[in-house]
Amino acid sequence: MTLHDADLDVYLHDSDRIAALRADARAGLTSTPKWLPPKYFYDARGSALFEQITRLPEYYPTRAERSILDTRAASIATITGAKTLVELGSGSSEKTRLLLDALREHGTLGAFIPLDVSAAALREAVVALRTDYPDLHVRGVVADFVEHLDLLPHAGGRLVAFLGGTIGNFTPEERTPFLSTLRAQLETGEWFLLGADLVKDPAILVPAYDDAQGVTAEFNRNVLHVLNDALAADFDPSTFTHVALWDPAAEWIEMRLRSTRDQSVHLPALDLTVHFSAGEEMRTEVSAKFRPAGLREELSEAGFSLRHWWTDEQSRFGVALATAS
Ligand code: SAH
Ligand code: AVI
Repeated sequence: MTLHDADLDVYLHDSDRIAALRADARAGLTSTPKWLPPKYFYDARGSALFEQITRLPEYYPTRAERSILDTRAASIATITGAKTLVELGSGSSEKTRLLLDALREHGTLGAFIPLDVSAAALREAVVALRTDYPDLHVRGVVADFVEHLDLLPHAGGRLVAFLGGTIGNFTPEERTPFLSTLRAQLETGEWFLLGADLVKDPAILVPAYDDAQGVTAEFNRNVLHVLNDALAADFDPSTFTHVALWDPAAEWIEMRLRSTRDQSVHLPALDLTVHFSAGEEMRTEVSAKFRPAGLREELSEAGFSLRHWWTDEQSRFGVALATAS
């Protein structure tokens, strides 16, 4: 089956994406210290690199979350009786199949709406899902879950899934409005399933973000390839090394790119030249880790009631099932 953009609902058009990238690149690269938002990792290559990350021995979150869904999917289906499953930042929707299977078994599910900024990842996922779930209405939505939550389909009986720990890629200042906006889109009694990575020993956390094979390093540098492609920038990615560090005060992993030398990078599309000194570091991602009490409180402040909280056997990862209250 071939799937064209016409088969996806596109709320985020290439022109908007480029306009946002231009604005973010200008803001981030002219700040001190420099930063770039993590959503730009995910072009086709970045999404494929993320999929490789999920299979690395050091990257436990995907396996831990899958084990929780494996054990709890049937309960989630019974408790929610969802008619429509919406998935934010769906990527390959690989683990989500456990929910789809359980909801199908339960007999309530009619539609699955995966939403992602990465049209490439979404297209691939939707092709596979339509083949494997021929009776399900599968509609991919290319959108930004910060900008476009108000465009979610208004079908009743929705379960919104936000898996993988992607909630951690927001700063706390971004998280609060995201959760409130999501709550405002839901009817009272609709459901929110949230996967969150938990605070743990940095000896486990740091290697998960700095793997021996260097896949995460390549994923990190991919944002420079994206800037080169989209803005005709001349970053030489080989002159930036990958940094992953645990910030014990913020309780997040921070990924950075460190310039190995003094250099100037040109972004003609922005009429901008940016100087990096040797050793200068630019923040490319935070990946916050959570404590159950803090997460419950944040959900409650946004208008969600936590109904169930499940972890994997080693308490590395948590899945919260909350209702819009
Ligand atoms: N949910 C999947 C994928 C997680 S990777 C899993 O658990 O494995 C994060 C995903 O979120 C990527 O597919 C990326 O393209 C998407 N994403 C990142 N920022 C986004 C944004 N602002 N809006 C929509 N999708 C986003
Ligand atoms: C998508 N997100 C939850 C991943 C994470 O773990 O923060 C992205 C990632 N960054 C480095 N490795 C994986």
